[in-house]
Amino acid sequence: MTTTVALGTDLKVSNLGECRFDSPLAKYIGGRRTNEHYVDEDDRVLFDDTISLVRERAVPVDRLPSFEPGGPRRQVFFAPGTARVGVVTCGGLCPGLNDVIRGLVLELCTHYGVGEVTGFRYGYAGLVPGNGHRVTRLTPDKVDKINEQGGTILGTSRGAQDPEVMADTLVEHGIDILFVIGGDGSMRGAAGIAQVLTRRGLPIGVIGIPKTIDNDIPYIGQSFGFQTSFTVAAQSIQAARVEAQSAIGGVGLVRVMGRHSGFIACYAALANHDADFVLIPEVPFALDGDGGFLACLRRRVTDRGSAVVVVAEGAGQELLTSSGSDASGNAALADVGVFMKERITSDFEAAGQPLTLKYIDPGYAIRSVPAQASDSVYCVRLAQAAVHAAMAGRTDMVVGRRHNRFIHVPISLAVSMRNRVAPDGDLWLSILESTAQPFEMR
Ligand code: F6P
Repeated sequence: MTTTVALGTDLKVSNLGECRFDSPLAKYIGGRRTNEHYVDEDDRVLFDDTISLVRERAVPVDRLPSFEPGGPRRQVFFAPGTARVGVVTCGGLCPGLNDVIRGLVLELCTHYGVGEVTGFRYGYAGLVPGNGHRVTRLTPDKVDKINEQGGTILGTSRGAQDPEVMADTLVEHGIDILFVIGGDGSMRGAAGIAQVLTRRGLPIGVIGIPKTIDNDIPYIGQSFGFQTSFTVAAQSIQAARVEAQSAIGGVGLVRVMGRHSGFIACYAALANHDADFVLIPEVPFALDGDGGFLACLRRRVTDRGSAVVVVAEGAGQELLTSSGSDASGNAALADVGVFMKERITSDFEAAGQPLTLKYIDPGYAIRSVPAQASDSVYCVRLAQAAVHAAMAGRTDMVVGRRHNRFIHVPISLAVSMRNRVAPDGDLWLSILESTAQPFEMR
């Protein structure tokens, strides 16, 4: 099946203007051209990565959909030493936020002659003067070792603000480039600011570094912080297994974050191969009846003596009632963990089957920790790519990595859909193989 991305301008990144200044980084690139490990700035990274997908496009190679590669340019838009830069972190916490802030400050100050970076406090709220959040000045000294702390030294908040007011704030502070570290809602906000700036004819760049432990941003492979979060979540699953195996009729039930996408549940479950059932928003299930989840669980406990169930917070919402939404406009979800705990307990009781249920919800503990080394590396490299893109005058785009290449993605594309676990994809197949849970629980 061909992907739905249309050919043509979808993947084109906006520019503030001609790059007229020699880049201080040019010395590192020299006459290098595309090779197995490096994509030259004049080259493009293909969107598709299988022969069948390319064949289905039925267009000449030059017209295949492709992304602009990340990395330093030989010429830049902002004269080195002149750019004034702002950074803001928005939305829920995510491991690696401080790594990205530090990476931005170090790259800007070490290579592009930036003296200090303006940090806007508490998300977009910090770009609205009436809220009274004073900016902070970030220097290499100030960001030293912040990567060892979880959270964000800038603070964060959810919710949209008026893009006209935020654009005014950038102008007041003399900002040339704004880096927005946030999720899909924050990226929509960044696009809104970029549009206002373009309409006003102001050469101010807006560059996003997509953040979400849910890994639900499309086209960029994995989002930073995801690896750390599922690694921590896996510890809860391991604990659930130990508890379940030590008890009569032991069931370990673990609820993990994942509002619309079940990636954390899947990866955390696969990490230790400990789960008997994984329930995610993308794969609906029935509770009752012989083929339903509860009967399957009872059989598994009878066969193996115990079982571990991993449930993503957005799973099974069709079985519950919920209402309202949060400040980001996300639907408020009913608590599926507590619901499942009650239903499992009453079902085993009704069937006269012994049960010792231990319920674990690691909650915010999976996202408030510092990034682990692999995420830290990713954060630094995303920050470097973001700085290179910004200095080259790119705007209204996010940086990401796809098929192991760093790329520039227009924000409009990054927020055009949600990355979700495909029920007919190889990740879900791995879950079915690992858990041996029924293909369908209906
Ligand atoms: O969006 C990421 C996420 O971690 C979701 O999985 C979760 O539903 C949400 O944040 C909770 O965040 P908060 O309670 O801060 O709104």
